[in-house]
Amino acid sequence: MTRPVPVEKPNIKPHVWAIGGGKGGVGKSALTTGIAMTLAGQGQRCVMIDADLGGANLHTFLGMSSPEHTISDLFRDPTKNLQDILLATPFENLGLISGARAMLNVANLKHFQKEKLIRQVFSLEADYIFIDLGAGSSFNVLDFFIAAHNGLMVVTPTPTSIENTYHFLRAAYFRKLRHVIRDLKVEALVDSSLDDKEKSGIRSPRDLVAELRRRDPSAGEEIDRAMMSFSPGLIVNQVQRHQDRNLGKEMALACKDFLGIDVTMAGSVRTDEQVLMALNSRRPTLSMFPQSNFAKDVRQIVQKLEW
Ligand SMILES: Nc1ncnc2c1ncn2[C@@H]1O[C@H](COP(=O)(O)OP(=O)(O)OP(=O)(O)O)[C@@H](O)[C@H]1O
Ligand SMILES: [Mg+2]
Repeated sequence: MTRPVPVEKPNIKPHVWAIGGGKGGVGKSALTTGIAMTLAGQGQRCVMIDADLGGANLHTFLGMSSPEHTISDLFRDPTKNLQDILLATPFENLGLISGARAMLNVANLKHFQKEKLIRQVFSLEADYIFIDLGAGSSFNVLDFFIAAHNGLMVVTPTPTSIENTYHFLRAAYFRKLRHVIRDLKVEALVDSSLDDKEKSGIRSPRDLVAELRRRDPSAGEEIDRAMMSFSPGLIVNQVQRHQDRNLGKEMALACKDFLGIDVTMAGSVRTDEQVLMALNSRRPTLSMFPQSNFAKDVRQIVQKLEW
């Protein structure tokens, strides 16, 4: 079951999605599995990457036993790359790169290891890559999130998850801004803008970008352009009450008003006991219960998202 995926098609640059959200246990892995399985079922070559190195469990969502090859192989043998540890799954068009037994958590992944990992993600042979992130807003989690072409944040209708999602979004925005500023070599401009923060009325990340634009229009415009592409999608998971469905819209409005960040509402997913039943049977919800509310809601999200 865990032999490497056979490579048949020519290398086409994959489109990379990252799934995060700050809080643990909100359904990032369940949704990553559901979305990837749906696209794989439509004939797209998908690879799921378990970047939750401290608590990797994507293989369990797919009903696979403990994988033979994991990301830890890369650190033991630097001549190996991600393609070498790509595993076939029981599902057609769906590969897995497992973080299980990685023996190190994301927090102590070294900078060069992270850069190498991120570079290799983009050279995998697939149509879509889905990076399932661990909980939290550590730099290593954020760096995978902002490196992806698209980000999805999973939130549940609970005060702690909502709070963590805002924190995650703000932290990811600033992390990306930092990268853009470093690449453009305009650190001094940012420092001087932040020195006069009170006078300039900088309250949100977007206020800062506007101030940079005012001080140096051409650098500001480049920063603005780079940051405009930061527009993660939001999935509200474990919805039980009708009013919970509005949470996504309310949060998107608040992100725009208070952080100045455009967040796209990707959809909501109902709480469904069949998710746990499938997990207990070591089978993905979408294959065991294709007509479940969870499967229907995930398919609707896939239909709505732009691929
Ligand atoms: N819509 C849902 N209905 C019912 N149960 C759900 C739903 N979504 C997720 N779950 C369950 O919630 C639990 C946590 O889900 P999951 O492991 O996907 O969360 P996570 O965000 O990846 O957690 P971690 O941060 O620990 O990796 C699992 O038992 C899963 O089966
Ligand atoms: Mg998870």
